[in-house]
Amino acid sequence: MAIERIIHTSADDSTPEEQELEVTLRPHDFANYIGQKRIKQNLQLAITAAKKRGEPIDHVLLHGPPGLGKTTLASVIANEMSAQIRITSGPAIERAGDLASLLTNLQDGDILFIDEIHRLHRSVEEVLYSAMEDFKLDIMLGKGPSAKSLRLDLPKFTIIGATTRTGSLAAPLRDRFGMIHRLEFYTPEEIARIIKRAAQILGVEISDDAAQKLAGRARLTPRIANRLLKRVRDYADVNGDGIIDHYVSSSALELLEVDELGLDPADRRMLEAIIDSYNGGPVGVDTIAALLAEERGTIEDFHEPYLMQIGLLERTPRGRKVTHKAYTHLGRKRSSIDGQASLV
Ligand code: ADE
Repeated sequence: MAIERIIHTSADDSTPEEQELEVTLRPHDFANYIGQKRIKQNLQLAITAAKKRGEPIDHVLLHGPPGLGKTTLASVIANEMSAQIRITSGPAIERAGDLASLLTNLQDGDILFIDEIHRLHRSVEEVLYSAMEDFKLDIMLGKGPSAKSLRLDLPKFTIIGATTRTGSLAAPLRDRFGMIHRLEFYTPEEIARIIKRAAQILGVEISDDAAQKLAGRARLTPRIANRLLKRVRDYADVNGDGIIDHYVSSSALELLEVDELGLDPADRRMLEAIIDSYNGGPVGVDTIAALLAEERGTIEDFHEPYLMQIGLLERTPRGRKVTHKAYTHLGRKRSSIDGQASLV
């Protein structure tokens, strides 16, 4: 299996150093992949059946918030299929010709992983339709009345697409995936196991209670768990004997300004802005973005899913609303005006 390159996404705020760490810690097979049980069962079945028939597996679409392991799962699928994987992303394929060159260089059974597939250009997407459906590449030669269309046979490949938003995917593209799976947030127990596994690979000693503490603050997201582990390891190396115990993890997390629910300063700023400027909402996401000078995509892809998952934020037809639980967490009181407004 060869991973050519990893192109990271705009919704993904990881540094090159973190991307390398992610590759080091990435499980290579289902046996070592923790969590996402239902998706694993479905994929394992599809892989076993495809291998039995001697065919590639159907195209797979993986969606869900960033950091939950879409790229990791794609590389596990490739490994379990003993297939070669090529990794690219929607914005990296600028023209139909770029896609044509990617596809014609594939071999039977290869997997093409397209991250941020919702950002493919429309002209590129249209070429992908027949490629996915019939393994044919339609190219136009020339322009105007003398233009000719040419159909090329392609190898039998599998596309694994990843997106943080299925809503932004055109229906004809979505319909060409035989399997569509939404990655869910992990449970705190799964995150604790992921942290212990990563610590073992990195050769760091971590106590069970410290792993649990970090797990409670990692936004139920493996990428964040690994990031916290690394920062806490730095703290343990500098301020202690390198061992991560409960005391070291608590002190390090305080320094990182990550609170008991895993919120960072940016999450808290967002909730407080909705409370202070809009009495807790409802308020539109564009207004929140303008208020925080933040990109709408970052709010929608990164902040909101977790805040909604843990019940601090609600999405209503009139916009986003901060919940009672968020007021309590932030130690804030609801104004009476807001109380009346929420009755309307
Ligand atoms: N590292 C990142 N994600 C993981 C997962 N789901 N299982 C094991 N290790 C991981």
